Amino acid sequence: SQNWVLMVTAQTPTNIAVIKYWGKRDESLILPVNDSISVTLDPDHLCTTTTVAVSSSFQQDRMWLNGKEIPLSGGRYQNCLREIRNRASDVEDKKQGIRITKEDWGKLHLHIASYNNFPTAAGLASSAAGFACLVFALAKLMNVKEDESKLSAIARQGSGSACRSLYGGFVKWKMGREEDGNDSLAVQLVNEEHWDDLFIIIAVVSSRQKETSSTTGMRESVQTSLLLQHRAKEVVPKRILQMEEAIRNRDFASFAQLTCADSNQFHAVCLDTSPPIFYMNDTSHRIISIIEKWNRSEETPQVAYTFDAGPNAVLIARNRKTAASLIQRLLYYFPPNTDDLSSYIIGDKSILQD
Ligand code: PMV
Repeated sequence: SQNWVLMVTAQTPTNIAVIKYWGKRDESLILPVNDSISVTLDPDHLCTTTTVAVSSSFQQDRMWLNGKEIPLSGGRYQNCLREIRNRASDVEDKKQGIRITKEDWGKLHLHIASYNNFPTAAGLASSAAGFACLVFALAKLMNVKEDESKLSAIARQGSGSACRSLYGGFVKWKMGREEDGNDSLAVQLVNEEHWDDLFIIIAVVSSRQKETSSTTGMRESVQTSLLLQHRAKEVVPKRILQMEEAIRNRDFASFAQLTCADSNQFHAVCLDTSPPIFYMNDTSHRIISIIEKWNRSEETPQVAYTFDAGPNAVLIARNRKTAASLIQRLLYYFPPNTDDLSSYIIGDKSILQD
């Protein structure tokens, strides 16, 4: 048969690190200098949907992101495609009367269409969801018989943080020891039901693209920051254990303290880099002050904050009621249509009705 096509569609949410990954010990394999822990968001707000298709009529591998064709020539895409193709198995489609063998996969070409359900220009991490989704969809299409952890080690070679998006709930990326990176992979700590009172709000401070990419930033931090060395060796290993315990016990006070401290240390490493990297801006700093003051005025912390390689605040409220109060505070300090907190807050707006 001539005109056949096989397709698989997958959807993957992004994840937010509460113990940050910053710094690679191997740039091409993407091996980190420390373990990290993240929470995977629910797919309603920030996720990628990717369709992968194979057909004998395709002349070359091609990819479209939000409807616009992008080159697949980069090493990161090529590494993911190669690793998945190497593990492909036979696939049969009785309806179309086709059978693709292990060997065929090496010769057939792919078309990939990927969409983010959030504005790509919003400066929100999209590579995490993107590469996780791509690897997962390709693995399904090519009948790859590896578990999520093994797939995470492949997604890692697309974007480090992507390896943590193969699972829901809280996820740990183990840095691993081996040189080939086979043990640098993600494991699920607890699933999404374990701590489902948590409510995550993202305050979009700026929709400008970040000035220093995480790749460049990490490289410069590894080369110049002594604080990074100290953090990777002395701080993170202990913090990872404490964070795992806080998550296991749903201990929000410890969780918030560790999350905020780790975000602040990551940004301190950026400042300690030469030349210094500024990811947060005045609005980010104001949000930190507002949350710190609020937390101190209560018996126990209400909200944890964390910032990635940009000024947007990821705010984790202890429950839905606190999240509603948080949104009201944000709207009070940053009235709509002022320049500071530019356009919007991502989160379930219905919580304001409770
Ligand atoms: O995987 P990358 O290159 O997008 O790097 C992510 C780095 C941070 O988001 C700042 C921290 C993290 O652990 O996700």
